[in-house]
Amino acid sequence: MKILVGIDGSEHSKRALIEAVNIARKFSGSVKVITVYKKGMDEKAKEILEEAGQSLKKEKINHSLLSILGSNPSRALVNIAKNENFDLIVVGSRGLGSAASFLLGSVSKSVVSQAPCDVLVVKK
Ligand SMILES: Nc1ncnc2c1ncn2[C@@H]1O[C@H](COP(=O)(O)OP(=O)(O)OP(=O)(O)O)[C@@H](O)[C@H]1O
Ligand SMILES: [Mg+2]
Repeated sequence: MKILVGIDGSEHSKRALIEAVNIARKFSGSVKVITVYKKGMDEKAKEILEEAGQSLKKEKINHSLLSILGSNPSRALVNIAKNENFDLIVVGSRGLGSAASFLLGSVSKSVVSQAPCDVLVVKK
């Protein structure tokens, strides 16, 4: 089972990664983690991925890490899922954005509507 996870460094996305790890373990799956970052934020992106990589390594999950320079995380997630035949995309319900009144962030909303595969939106 191929699982794709999007992370932005938020607590929500960390919980999304934990759920992805749990599923990967259950189904002997692999996890690909991506973070889409803006120009000038490459150091931050590297840090975010390194932290994710450390926990995946510790959990002995087959994985890969990818940072993508861009401004459209949902499109990146959806395109990778399509091109590389992922079975599941895992995202948090919210991210770093501060509009706490919304139940779903714009990235998770768009992934749910555009994904070619199942999507798990981690809400807790
Ligand atoms: N830059 C990104 N790269 C990869 N995945 C991301 C990125 N931004 C968000 N995600 C994924 O989408 C989930 C929801 O984040 P989203 O950005 O939709 O919420 P938000 O930041 O609260 O709202 P908004 O960005 O619309 O203000 C995150 O938990 C994460 O899993
Ligand atoms: Mg956001």
